[in-house]
Amino acid sequence: MSDLVENCSGHTFALPASDSLNPVWNPIDSKEEIIPYYDRLELPVKLAEEKYQVVGGLGTGSFGSVILAKIKNGYMQSIRKNMCRQVGTLMEPIVNYQRAPTQLVAIKIMIKKLHSVADYSRVKEVNFILSVSSHPNLVQIYDVFIDKMFLKLHIVMETMNQNLYQLMKTRKGSLFSPPTLKNILAQLLAAIRHIHRSKFFHRDIKPENILVMPTVTFYGSKENVPPSMKNCTYVIKLADYGLARHVSNNNTFTAYVSTRWYRSPEILLRKKKYSFPVDIWAFGCVAVETATFNPLLPGQNELDQTWKVLELLGCPERINCPEIKEPLGGYWDEAQPLAAKLGFCLPKLPGTSISHILPRKDIPRTERYQLYEIVKSCLTWDAGLRAKAEILAKSLYFQNTVLTEEDKLRYQKGCAFINSLSNLGEKELSTMKTKKMDNINLKENTNPVSSKINQIDGSASSTN
Ligand SMILES: Nc1ncnc2c1ncn2[C@@H]1O[C@H](COP(=O)(O)OP(=O)(O)OP(=O)(O)O)[C@@H](O)[C@H]1O
Ligand SMILES: [Mg+2]
Repeated sequence: MSDLVENCSGHTFALPASDSLNPVWNPIDSKEEIIPYYDRLELPVKLAEEKYQVVGGLGTGSFGSVILAKIKNGYMQSIRKNMCRQVGTLMEPIVNYQRAPTQLVAIKIMIKKLHSVADYSRVKEVNFILSVSSHPNLVQIYDVFIDKMFLKLHIVMETMNQNLYQLMKTRKGSLFSPPTLKNILAQLLAAIRHIHRSKFFHRDIKPENILVMPTVTFYGSKENVPPSMKNCTYVIKLADYGLARHVSNNNTFTAYVSTRWYRSPEILLRKKKYSFPVDIWAFGCVAVETATFNPLLPGQNELDQTWKVLELLGCPERINCPEIKEPLGGYWDEAQPLAAKLGFCLPKLPGTSISHILPRKDIPRTERYQLYEIVKSCLTWDAGLRAKAEILAKSLYFQNTVLTEEDKLRYQKGCAFINSLSNLGEKELSTMKTKKMDNINLKENTNPVSSKINQIDGSASSTN
């Protein structure tokens, strides 16, 4: 027997009866009406120990701890029902996503207790989860609630084997092959592109926040691996949305965001505003580290970090001397004034070369030069000159990877949508137009959570 669930866009899904979280849903017809789950700015309160059984620890961080847990009997079905209702959030089941069935989940538990239940919905990570749609390279979220007993926020998600930092460490210097390197970077970039398309930036891209699992383990068998992932040794998922921020957020920005080694020049030099390019800088640093297994800029403190950037990229000040060529990191007119405000001057160091940064002669020459271009366009002093995720994804280096597959799918979906429009009558088209206007108005709302909630009709909720 399957349960029927209707999501907010009116599609109805049949829930699989099996007692696992393998989210295979088939659109079917039903008139059953189900009221959405997060139709208010309050998260549900549940007794964690009633629903989950702790199995072990997975990691700790500044936000809290991450544990491995087993979903208790009988609770699986209600999680799956709720997930289907969370359209446009990280809880919405990913289409065509059939990871091997499991009852194990990872639960991130926040250390801090907040004053009221409503305060938990304002936690950055929760805001992100409820505002960004699911993606194969972002961690699928299963449940978000406050524990009744300890009043702590619980984020229940799919579990992965380990993080990229741990994987590189266990390989003891045995570098990734050129295709594996490319596929890891392509999946990471797909995650970043999706986040940026959703008008968020992550702000903490680093190997510890990139989760990995061997592809065959993830899908359960070789046969289950989807065609777009056939050449990928690992499934990659960008995690930890605790620092993610919406671009429209105008509050004062903190300088001490992101882990020091992956901090961009504009953050190091305390520029008041920064945005998407901070993720591209971190992506460039991670790309080099994944290729060499050595952190690119391991600064010991803020000043040492800036010094290391300078040694690597050269001084960004323009020099009127034709013999001196442009430094690796290019020019940035704002750099010296910003440094002066902090009480120092950037010395005129020449910087290094890209081949020195990426000593991977085993990568075929053409591909190696394509990778050089990627890294160079990420590591620019001037954030305005740094490549955008969309542009990087279209580069020759990433041809025939998950990025191109994703583009093809989007194109096909676009064509299907246009074709479906040509079958509509005038009245239906005009209704759609009005709906689109409503959507635009909602998008102008600066709070992504409230705009999401505004889109959901009704005020009652059906929690468990
Ligand atoms: N879904 C998961 N599956 C397996 N391991 C996980 C999962 N989520 C997190 N971890 C592990 O727990 C660690 C900490 O998680 P996370 O980065 O989300 O916490 P944090 O407290 O925000 O960390 P930070 O110190 O970066 O702020 C990760 O580096 C990873 O090793
Ligand atoms: Mg982390």
